[in-house]
Amino acid sequence: MQPFVEFSMERWQSTYENRVDYNLSESGVHPMTLRELLDLARVESVDDTLVGYGQSNGSDELRARIAALYHGASDANVVATNGSAEANFVALWELVEPGDEVAIVTPAYGQTLGLAPMLGATVRPIPLRQELGWQPDPDDVARGVTGRTKVLVITNPSNPTGAILTADSRAALVAAASRAGAWIVADEVYTGAELEPPETPSFFGDYERVLATGSLSKAYGLPGLRVGWVVAPTALAPRLWARTDYTTISTGALTDRLAALALRADVRPMVLHRTRGILRGSLEVLEHWLGDAGCFSYLRPQAGAIAWVRYDLPVNSSRLAERLRAEQSVLVVPGDHFGLDHYLRIGYGLLSQDLTAALERVKKVLDTPHA
Ligand SMILES: Cc1ncc(COP(=O)(O)O)c(C=O)c1O
Repeated sequence: MQPFVEFSMERWQSTYENRVDYNLSESGVHPMTLRELLDLARVESVDDTLVGYGQSNGSDELRARIAALYHGASDANVVATNGSAEANFVALWELVEPGDEVAIVTPAYGQTLGLAPMLGATVRPIPLRQELGWQPDPDDVARGVTGRTKVLVITNPSNPTGAILTADSRAALVAAASRAGAWIVADEVYTGAELEPPETPSFFGDYERVLATGSLSKAYGLPGLRVGWVVAPTALAPRLWARTDYTTISTGALTDRLAALALRADVRPMVLHRTRGILRGSLEVLEHWLGDAGCFSYLRPQAGAIAWVRYDLPVNSSRLAERLRAEQSVLVVPGDHFGLDHYLRIGYGLLSQDLTAALERVKKVLDTPHA
């Protein structure tokens, strides 16, 4: 067994996110209530749901609705999971063997960065570069994917940068994976949370060895349903499903039903419209504040309720985040959790009035001396 690698950002969030006045560590929008969802779907009640074990890879209805989001997919390609977290977990567990290399586009959500070494693999980061608009340099892509690369992990749209890969970046990544015969695990959990259309196309279908993961947590404002999925080639999907027998067995019967409602063809556009409305209103508040604060530089996010901002102050990011939490009860994610000090990830998906109040508190700490 390899040593346990703590997932520092999730530990920080799990410990504090429900214990602060303002949570700016969240990367999705202000969540929906169950009533809002049922009203959008014109469903009176779900009281008659049979709360048994449902179909463990997701109900046929849910899998068909997920498949409809992916060009060339059918329900046979889909395994429903408990969040994209479980989807990413079973994907890497299935694919990675000791001695493999896993190339990961970074900075990135820390799950696969921690999991790959625990599965005995070596991680090769492929850096996104701010000066390139948070795109990878093609030379770094070519260097990062080698003959030993088993999996290339791409998060698109990106967490934490909020940037979307250009067609050229996508092509370079697919070409590198294809040269190596590597699998691409595309974490596409921020798809649908773009500030402007179009919706980010999936990597699924770009190349025969792609697993795409997603969930209702970010673009749909329904993280508490804990419904996610992996879309995989037909031969691989049953193997991923078999892995879930060891993790959670099944999605919940009630949340499966609610997820199928959120993905219904007439409901989904309304849910995403709500998300885009929150994103646009709140980003305006945040950008105004960032401009006034005078110590930040950043590239405007294209998707997700997160801004990845560099600050020019003589203080370490974990120290700054801890001061914000302890002194002002505001939670942000320090750049250290993504391996880049002097950055903060600010979640701005709150309702505008809450965001304004939270940012006023952040300013109080920025304006005091940093010992
Ligand atoms: C890139 C990325 N992948 C996966 C997840 C896990 O989310 P969930 O399991 O709620 O889908 C997150 C959550 O922040 C994320 O940012």
